[in-house]
Amino acid sequence: MERLQKVIAAAGIASRRKAEQLIADGRVTVNGKTVTELGTKVGASDKIEVNGVRLEREEKVYYLLYKPRGVLSAASDDKGRKTVVDLFPEVEERLYPVGRLDFDTTGILLLTNDGDFAYLMTHPKFEIEKTYVARTKGIPTKEKLKQLERGIVLEDGKTAPAKAKLLSMDKKTDKGIVQLTIHEGKNRQVKRMFEAIGCPVQKLKRESFGFLDLHGLNAGDRRELTAHEVKQLRVLAETGKIR
Ligand code: URA
Repeated sequence: MERLQKVIAAAGIASRRKAEQLIADGRVTVNGKTVTELGTKVGASDKIEVNGVRLEREEKVYYLLYKPRGVLSAASDDKGRKTVVDLFPEVEERLYPVGRLDFDTTGILLLTNDGDFAYLMTHPKFEIEKTYVARTKGIPTKEKLKQLERGIVLEDGKTAPAKAKLLSMDKKTDKGIVQLTIHEGKNRQVKRMFEAIGCPVQKLKRESFGFLDLHGLNAGDRRELTAHEVKQLRVLAETGKIR
């Protein structure tokens, strides 16, 4: 027997948090009865419906995409813009992105239909490190880099300790190339952190996610994660290290 929200998330319909909300909102039935209690346990033979639609238990799939610029990190878009899921036309499972990269940000993005995995990868309490490389207008001083590392007060709270390193600079054009490693995922976090120190981001790429990087891929390329990588990512989220 498993918890209802876990089964819904595992079916790829929603993240664990969203699944909890669906239950609390009375949108889920088990064997025809509305269930609003989050702890409810269900078994393989129970008939679960979400918004009146029977839950199908799909095989889990996991992809790593080198997201190109000009593509939306969403499963669909009401304005008709191209989404990262559109880059997987032959995949039948209901894929969605794990977290988000901005429309103009490039780099590593995971996609899956496993809501439970997506929750582990994105919830800040699991502290998966993500490394970004930003081209900034203005060259951050050592003190500004320290500010990024100590935490920046944004309107939705202070950022957690980070690592920041100036990789190169061009004094003539007044631009810096800065590597920033964070383990949260607030909306537009990296850009807002650089804005706060007065060095706005002109170009942004996510180079790594946990131990995964873009090795061997060009923008627009993707590959399936191996079963071992998926397992290691879970271990990383759950224990903070990989064995
Ligand atoms: N931080 C940002 O500002 N943008 C992204 O796309 C990712 C992290």
